[in-house]
Amino acid sequence: MIDDDITSNDSTNRPFHDVLNTYASRRRLVGGGALAIAGFLAGEPLDAIAGGLQGNGGAGLMNFTPVPLAGGGGGTPRIAPEYTYDVLIPYGSPIAPNKFEVVGIGHDGMWYCPIGHGISGNSHGLLILNNEYGDNIVLLGKNTPSNLDDVRHSQYMHGVTIVEIQRTGKGNGKWRTTGRHGLARRIHVNTPVTFSGPVAGSPLLQNTASNAYLGTVNNCANGHTPWGTYLTCEENFNAYFGARSTWTPNAMQRRYGIAAASSYGWHLFDDRFDLSNPDYANEANRFGWIVEIDPTRPHSQPVKRTALGRFKHEGIAIVEGRDGRIVGYMGDDERFDYIYKFVSADNWRVMRARGLDPLDHGRLYVARFNDDGTGEWIELTIDNPLIAAEFDTQAEVLTYARRAGDLVGATPMDRPEWATVAPNGLVYCTLTNNSNRGRSGVPGATASNPQAPNPDGHIIRWLDSDQHVGLTFRWEIFVLASDTHGTEASFASPDGLWADPDGRLFIQTDGAQHDGLNDQMLVADIYTGEIRRLFEGVWGAEVTGLAVTPDRKTMFVNLQHPDPTATPGRDSTIVIMRRDGGVVGS
Ligand code: FEO
Ligand code: CA
Ligand code: CA
Ligand code: CA
Repeated sequence: MIDDDITSNDSTNRPFHDVLNTYASRRRLVGGGALAIAGFLAGEPLDAIAGGLQGNGGAGLMNFTPVPLAGGGGGTPRIAPEYTYDVLIPYGSPIAPNKFEVVGIGHDGMWYCPIGHGISGNSHGLLILNNEYGDNIVLLGKNTPSNLDDVRHSQYMHGVTIVEIQRTGKGNGKWRTTGRHGLARRIHVNTPVTFSGPVAGSPLLQNTASNAYLGTVNNCANGHTPWGTYLTCEENFNAYFGARSTWTPNAMQRRYGIAAASSYGWHLFDDRFDLSNPDYANEANRFGWIVEIDPTRPHSQPVKRTALGRFKHEGIAIVEGRDGRIVGYMGDDERFDYIYKFVSADNWRVMRARGLDPLDHGRLYVARFNDDGTGEWIELTIDNPLIAAEFDTQAEVLTYARRAGDLVGATPMDRPEWATVAPNGLVYCTLTNNSNRGRSGVPGATASNPQAPNPDGHIIRWLDSDQHVGLTFRWEIFVLASDTHGTEASFASPDGLWADPDGRLFIQTDGAQHDGLNDQMLVADIYTGEIRRLFEGVWGAEVTGLAVTPDRKTMFVNLQHPDPTATPGRDSTIVIMRRDGGVVGS
């Protein structure tokens, strides 16, 4: 995505020691199972805690032949020989047979929601899919829109697509779209939405021109809740705004990379996106949120959950923490930006029974990674004097969460992307790259971001205290991508990430790969650290987004922005299955 790389954190946060700390030297965890809270409290090293547990991982997690390094970089996908792949829902195809509406562009995060109970849900369900972006050349055949129709076309192709899909004996057991339940729909930049949580009703979201709340944009990665809803995350929303006339950004707009120049030119014909139009002064504050969608209620409006904060949301990994609280781990994908955690106020079942949404009431924290392998979650609250020195209301704190993070000394990270909670209890997070680290005027190497510059990224992991709801954690680096270069496990710029219940960590890449490879998906064994390549994408395409059926025998991943000369040459979902019908990744 065009705008991922901007540095807009010019706050004075500095790492505690600008030295590479050997604590982070790629220790390998062995074992798994439940969290060892006693060891945690005693301050033992992270690997010793997990190592003493001896989980069920290790032998035989990956029984496939890795796609070899040699022969990479082609125009058709490569997959391990034990596997097959198929192409589903390229952008522009109907969302259901005989439907006029079409699948959006820029396939990214997604979730599979089974229809029906038991085994039928493994072959029939909803696929809810983010359509992150499409550039004007691809969508319009030109760099800049010529009129409002062009803008509306581009806006329609962004957002979220919900398709109903089914696998039947007919058609060779391939997955196809179906209209059986009438649940297919599109949510885009002009779809009515509502706001909920502490910022709803705030003047920060009001415009003088119109208080109709519309749309979601730059939907990157995702999460889903235990109550069956989809969470879509608004990332580089700033790039859709521009100024038709003279306009100067304020400090908060600068902190979010909102600038007069726009990547898409929507502001030329749509007043909402014109920063210089005083009637829409707060339109940009309406983006950068996490949006909840109920895929099973086709007439329900998407809801922007403001308690989760406003930043360039990559994704959210939801886990049930102590006492049934909902915990969400979130990355803000920008150079030198932060990792966040949300914890609901109470047990989610109790809250819902009382008519309270667990994502509307809770605490938002930002992460500080200390060089000694410990860390703290610092609450972003107006009750903190460091925050109250600059802000007056909790609505401001949440709307400008990045700035609140600056004020409390959060650790600037190397572009936090996806997070996932693995069965060993550890949270894994991709730090995709940061070619600016160590340049003059910005932070240098720290233990948690040990390479300056860091062109290829790394994966960090931490053990949170108190079953994910505590204020402290222990962390270490799982893998530095540069350590894999020249080996069969070669990868760079990790982005999409998902740990399955057996301890397989699926790693998807977005960026320049080494050793002649295209972007790809690899599988790591979290217990041994072994990494094998399962899939390699095509020229120009990022491999991103991941969903599985409940039996995990079908996996859906996406090819985003492939070169048009590749096969497939359009943004598409790739359906991956084992030839023997086994669990994908095994
Ligand atoms: Fe949309 Fe940071 O990837
Ligand atoms: Ca992308
Ligand atoms: Ca991404
Ligand atoms: Ca990325």
